[in-house]
Amino acid sequence: MEFDVRKGNVTEIETDALIVNLYQDVKEPGGATAAIDAALEGQISGLIEDGEITGRLEEVTIVHTAGRLPAKRVVVAGLGKKEDADLEGVRRATGAATGRLLKHRIKRFHTILHGGGDLESTGVAVKDLAQAIAEGAGLAGYVFDRFKTVEPEREPGQPTERKKRALEALTVVEADGLKVRSIRAGLERGAKLVEAVNYTRDIGNSPPNEMTPARLAEEARELAERHGLEVEVLDREALESAGMGGILGVGQGSSNEPRLIVLRYAGGRPNARPFAVVGKAVTFDTGGISIKPSPNMEEMKFDKMGGCATLGIMKAVALLGLKKNVIGVIPSAENMPSGTAYRPGDILTSYSGKTIEIINTDAEGRLILADALAWACEQEPAAVIDLATLTGSCVVALGHHASGAFGEESIVARLEEIGERTGDRAWALPLYTEFGDDMKSQIADIKNSGGRWGGASTAAAFLKFFVADGVPWAHLDIAGTAWVTKPKAYRPVGATGAGVRLVAEYLSSR
Ligand code: BES
Ligand code: MN
Ligand code: ZN
Repeated sequence: MEFDVRKGNVTEIETDALIVNLYQDVKEPGGATAAIDAALEGQISGLIEDGEITGRLEEVTIVHTAGRLPAKRVVVAGLGKKEDADLEGVRRATGAATGRLLKHRIKRFHTILHGGGDLESTGVAVKDLAQAIAEGAGLAGYVFDRFKTVEPEREPGQPTERKKRALEALTVVEADGLKVRSIRAGLERGAKLVEAVNYTRDIGNSPPNEMTPARLAEEARELAERHGLEVEVLDREALESAGMGGILGVGQGSSNEPRLIVLRYAGGRPNARPFAVVGKAVTFDTGGISIKPSPNMEEMKFDKMGGCATLGIMKAVALLGLKKNVIGVIPSAENMPSGTAYRPGDILTSYSGKTIEIINTDAEGRLILADALAWACEQEPAAVIDLATLTGSCVVALGHHASGAFGEESIVARLEEIGERTGDRAWALPLYTEFGDDMKSQIADIKNSGGRWGGASTAAAFLKFFVADGVPWAHLDIAGTAWVTKPKAYRPVGATGAGVRLVAEYLSSR
């Protein structure tokens, strides 16, 4: 995908499609949209009058210019109510327009700078608007078609060609030469984050027969090679020597053996405390002996998204060239029922030495994270953030609209604020000490299930038990946000890459 800016006048741009915009309930278009409307002899205002264009957010109207403009088509993207306008609106409007154009196989097009002028006057930076445009288009322009061997919608007279629907190029057209530099900077930053998120999606969408713990480790090695990161992989034997009883317990039922993957990015002073990002990568979660029901079980290939997001965050950190040290820690296992599987009643000894009574083998994510978090805390980190598709309870609480955030209040507050701005939302949920009481075991140090109620919080309390005292830590439960089965403006069906932009922007801001 290419993102570019060009100084010019919208009425003079030669392109397959030019995206302009309209706020909701505006009868008379303004700015660039007005100039286009005039060249089209009032066709856009006519459509507004007829009620065919309303300007509501994510509305997309394609108008053919029939030779009245050098642009073949004008796309009017609804921006929603002016008083609600924000960067996320720009992202969603651009994403919706991009999605529609790609449906028509239009893969290279132009846009104006949405929000330039009006949002700008409320204090939003031009650079941020450009970044939001790159994100909206680049994330909406993603396709996972690696396993499509035939192209069903062949165009008449055209040879069969795969990878038709991914975005190729978006150019922002700007008349004000003074804005060009900021727009370019924003597009560049957006493009890097898009690359990291779409990379996360590619690995996440990969099927579980391919993306095993060993293969995920290979992906990490390739990432490290490409971006100059340090990589270390612990296989089953190494996990045994290290005493990682949580990862080993969960992984012992599968012939795809578990791994602990560690990536190190050194952008800061050599002695500066690193930030640690820890991500759950259960490559497939059947529930194990406490087996899950069959309906929708195929979605449990996405139980690796915390780990995939961690890879994406490491990629983003490297692409952005952050001046800090960051460690990515990814415990990975496949949770299967078999003759060698761990069982309810088993007691595992975690890396920290603390013992865990297994109540439910489907509460496996916390077991692999227990080892990884304890290991991460030994690295004397400045802070630890973990990401995990940890609980169904979190989906019940927040739906698909925000990740649950737990732990250190100052980190959680910052994540909430960045989530609001980036659209990669996080919402604070409580971690009262009482939730920890629910996890007490009669015979071991802790048990792995506290029952049904408050499941997202009891899971977080379990994790906290393995975080060393004094280490600032936050946990993101991405169970409801890591994938979608209904497409959203810039989130096509499948893995979303939730948490990548959120944590990358967090690290960037620290
Ligand atoms: N991976 C699941 C959580 C999950 C469920 C994520 C549905 C996304 C959608 C996790 O391993 C799990 O099974 N959690 C159990 C815990 C329970 C047994 C204590 C849950 O949430 O039901
Ligand atoms: Mn599970
Ligand atoms: Zn799981």
